[in-house]
Amino acid sequence: MKKLLVFVLLLSVCFSFSALADSGITIDNIREYVVGLDEPMELRDGTLRSIINFDNAATTPALQPVMDEVNEKLAKYGSIGRGFSAKSDYSTELYYNTRDKVLEFVGADPEQYTVFYVNNTTDGLNKLASALITSEDDIVLCTRMEHHANDLSWRERCKVIYAEVDEQGRIIYEEIEHLLQENKVKYVAVTAASNVTGYVTDVHRIAKMAHQYGAQIIVDGAQIVAHRAFTMTGETPEENIDYFVFSAHKMYSPYGGGAVIGLTSELNEHMPMFYGGGMVEIVSDTWVAWKQAPEIYEAGSPNYPGVVGLGKAIDILQEVGFDAISAHEQVLIRRLIDGLKQFDNVIIYGDSEDISDRVGVVTFNFSDVNSMILATRLADSGTAIRRGAFCAHPYVWRLMGIPEDELEFFIDCIDGKTPGMIRVSFGIYNTEEEVDEFLQILADVLPGARAETASIDNDFPAAY
Ligand code: ALA
Repeated sequence: MKKLLVFVLLLSVCFSFSALADSGITIDNIREYVVGLDEPMELRDGTLRSIINFDNAATTPALQPVMDEVNEKLAKYGSIGRGFSAKSDYSTELYYNTRDKVLEFVGADPEQYTVFYVNNTTDGLNKLASALITSEDDIVLCTRMEHHANDLSWRERCKVIYAEVDEQGRIIYEEIEHLLQENKVKYVAVTAASNVTGYVTDVHRIAKMAHQYGAQIIVDGAQIVAHRAFTMTGETPEENIDYFVFSAHKMYSPYGGGAVIGLTSELNEHMPMFYGGGMVEIVSDTWVAWKQAPEIYEAGSPNYPGVVGLGKAIDILQEVGFDAISAHEQVLIRRLIDGLKQFDNVIIYGDSEDISDRVGVVTFNFSDVNSMILATRLADSGTAIRRGAFCAHPYVWRLMGIPEDELEFFIDCIDGKTPGMIRVSFGIYNTEEEVDEFLQILADVLPGARAETASIDNDFPAAY
């Protein structure tokens, strides 16, 4: 009888652990957990309809379990690292434990790396740049694929050199090596995945090159974290990533928040950009004893909902599984590209044959349709896409074939005449049926957009 009781107890413990680890969310049922998919929205003509959301590279909707977790944990909210109360202790412990979860999520050894929380990737890259760059003569090597956050953050603080992209828009790795040979590069700053073409960068290959030439590598993870498994640890120590930055709002937790993961010893060699409470041991009239990383990089009261939401979003993405997410995205990209190819005068940017190194982003234009007109008509028909140059202007101009000497012309242009593309970006919950519906909407609005384009006084090629 006693043995049976022990067995039943063990069984129930095992069951409750597995229930904790697995809440049954999969790539097939994820839509049930996404907030607002059926929310009727008023379109410009007054009709109400739910939106096909293909703008996930910009930001992702909330997941219900993330919202539930934040709401539940807010009941226990108290001041982090400052208060004397059970709530303060609870919140502080959760806040610190989530650092461990983040390190595990990105495969970073807690003996070597630490995490400091930031508002988003842009904030993280700027904070990193302001700490790491110590002279205007420091040299940072970027690529022409970068989002402005991982370009201007450096460009405005030091000397930046750029590795080019090829005609398909992929990074030319040989050029990175060449630039490392020719220059005393301090940091290589590169995106893990492009927000324009979805190309995934072989960051470990670049890490190896950077380390060989005495540089460190900083990776912008904004577009990878919700799409593919990412690890900072390479096959050899030379392939390890030194710094990684990402946002929570692109991984289904729109409470703000993000993280910088970096080498603890290196971060302790530098000073942050912001000063205030929480980052000091003791302050006298004339001197300050600073805390170490991560606290020294987190002046002020932290964003508790942001951190709680981030932790839960990590749990869910891991439960759904990045193999399943990636396989699903490949199906959606293929279906969309094949559908787009059926239209006359379509221009699809990037490699539309081999898509294996692309996350769920597809950009396109029509050579005889103004992209602003088309984007407006798509939005008016209940789709959410993005139109423009996606805060990665130099990359977009390259893909569109707009030379540097034409660009000044567009300063102060009204929106419709600034160059741009249409971007579809998928989330884990998008479906093949939505792709088909989108293609049908596109077919419906194209003739009108084409006619409107032809009627406007447009001095530029229509795809602008
Ligand atoms: N960087 C985000 C995007 O690509 C906002 O849309």
